[in-house]
Formats: sequence, C-alpha cells, structure tokens
Amino acid sequence: MNYSYHCPTKIEMGEGKSKTLPELLGKMGAGASIMLVSDPGIIRAGLISGIKDSLEAGGYRVTVFDKVFPNPRDTDCMLGAEEFRMNRINTVAAIGGGSAMDTAKAIALCGPNGGIPSEYADGKRSYGQTAPLICIPTTAGTGSEVTRSAVITEQSTHRKMTLKHANLRPQLAVLDPELTLSVPPDITAATGVDALVHAIEGYTCRVSNPISQALGASAISKIVKALPLAYQNGENRKARAEMLEGSLLAGLCFGSADVAAVHCLAEALGGLYDTPHGVANAIFLPHVLEYNISGHEEIHGRIARIAGFAAEKDSDEEAAEKLIKGIVELTDQINIPKLKQLPGVKKADFERIVELSMNNNSTSSNVKEILPQDYLQILEKAYSAVPAVLSN
Ligand SMILES: [Fe+2]
Repeated sequence: MNYSYHCPTKIEMGEGKSKTLPELLGKMGAGASIMLVSDPGIIRAGLISGIKDSLEAGGYRVTVFDKVFPNPRDTDCMLGAEEFRMNRINTVAAIGGGSAMDTAKAIALCGPNGGIPSEYADGKRSYGQTAPLICIPTTAGTGSEVTRSAVITEQSTHRKMTLKHANLRPQLAVLDPELTLSVPPDITAATGVDALVHAIEGYTCRVSNPISQALGASAISKIVKALPLAYQNGENRKARAEMLEGSLLAGLCFGSADVAAVHCLAEALGGLYDTPHGVANAIFLPHVLEYNISGHEEIHGRIARIAGFAAEKDSDEEAAEKLIKGIVELTDQINIPKLKQLPGVKKADFERIVELSMNNNSTSSNVKEILPQDYLQILEKAYSAVPAVLSN
C-alpha cells in the first residue's frame, strides 16, 4: 500500500495556552503586524480582548478582522485579503471555529498571492506560499487547525469550494480547552458530531492509511464518550479537553486522507441553506452508514467496537448494525434535529443537492461507490424515515 502522511503544524495543547501567544509568536518569528480573524460572537464573548491586549503589550500591531460567518463566503475572504495588503500584515491568526479558521486560511493565501478563492479551487492559479498562519480553535469539531483545506462558499453560485494544498496547513495550532467552556450546547453537539464524522470518514475512505486510521480510532473512542458529557455540562473541563483532543486527532486523521459522502451531502446543504455544517453531517451520518455498510461490514464492525457500541464477540454484520444504532442514539441524546425540521429544506431541491454532492471531489473517496440515485435515496430516507435497522 502506498501513502504519504504529512503534518508540519506545531501543536501546543493545554489549559491557559492561548495566554502564551506572544511568546509562541516570538519563537516562530511572526513579524510585527498580526491579523486576528474572528467572528462577532466570539468577540462579544470576550475571547479576543485578552489575547489582543497581551499581543499589543508585547509590541505587536494588531488588526481585527471580524467579517466571519457560518459557511464562510469568498466575498468576505476577499475583503480580508484587501485588509491584509493594506495593513501590511505579517501573520494571520484565527480565533474561533471552522469558519474563522477557513476564512483565515483563504486570507493567508489570497492576501500575499492575489487572486480569488475559486481560481485556486478550480486549478486556474497555483497555490503560492501563504502568510504564516496560526489557528486557535474555540470549538471542538472542525480540526481545521491541522488540515490542508478550507471550505469556502462562492457567493454568486452557492457552490462550496475546497481550497486544498499543503501550504494551507497552519504553522502553529494552540489548543486551549478553556476557550471552549462557554460554547452553548447546540454548537457543542453539532461541532462534536462533525469531528466524529471526520474520524469515521477519514478511517473508512478509499484513500485512508494506517496512520490516519490509528488517529481516527483514538478520536472515535474519545468523542463518543466525551460528547454527551460536554453537551450536558459545558463546564466539565475534562470532557471539554477530551473533545478538543478528539477533534484534533480527527483532523489529523482525515487531513492526510479525505472525508466522504456524509460531507458531500452536508456541504451541499450548507451551500444552499446555510445549514450549520455539523448539524448537516449529523443528520446524514446514519443514512450514509446504512448505505455504506453492505459489502463493507468488516471495517464498520471494527469502528463499532472501537466506539464501544459492539462487543468483540459480535459478528461484523451485527457490529456494523450496532454502529448505526449507536450513532442514532448519540445524536438523539444531544438533540440533533431531523432533515425535515431544517429551515428552507424542500424536496424540490433534492436533484440540486444530488448534483452538488456528485460534483464534490470527496464523492470518489467514499468507501463504496455512490451514484446519483444512491444520494437521492439517502436524502429521501433522511427526509422521511429512520434507518431500517431501527424500525425493526
Ligand atoms: Fe467537517
């Protein structure tokens, strides 16, 4: 088996680590002009001010860019790239969830190199050297702090584009569980399931490798235990730390492999309706698993045992069925809504969702070949029924 595994990101993990940012920046020779990329909610929650003050006290010139929204748009990234050039930024630091980190990646790419995200995503412009990039996640989910990709929505078409290149990997990831203590339960749930899907898809996809699988296995066993605890009590520091570590491991898992069909559907939904990424992933996960399992019982049985949903003595078939049941119970426990409950979603759009999903490069990475009619069937099941395994 041939594969390559790559992650040059320096990882600093621990409570209070974000307070040491000026020293960490000094060690990496970050330059004097720093752009902090964050969303208005994070700024209102006061997570930026301490970091900004300590940087300014350390002699850094700080620009705050706050045009960060869920399902980040190319138009906002372009505004950030413009500010990057105007303020002669040296280093871009994201403080926030996946949207802040992905926006920061696009700014660190387009700021110094010019161009617009679609030119890179469509292969019309080659990826130049990005500005030094630091990611400080405030949710446990995306894993973007260690991945080479950023998902950006093209405002004019609602198409989700994936920027993907080794140069997009952050130089430094600072993981401080304290920053995640105030995340509300619904976001804890959605982002947590996103991390779980990264681990499951990174583990099972056609381009996985033994290193990704080892990291994915560790992520799965941590997340299924810690997510309900972090959801029930956001102040549970141990559960928050386990979740941040789980999402990091999941990012390291899929970062040198890929995601697959769950993400293709979720990204289509996010592009069309602005559905939170983790919610869309959670909705489709059991239905895609139900489709994937037949013919691939062994690998799914293995995941069920790793998650603690099945026993060693269970056959692969039994264990794989228990995986779906365990996932449905987990997502119900953390109150993930159903597809029909999402604002804007209508059956008339299913053909478009199928088309967007088929056009997603990760469709070909799915463990089992998936055709338009399969995507349509998954959508219909998600819209109207629970997986067959539960209706017995
Ligand atoms: Fe994701």
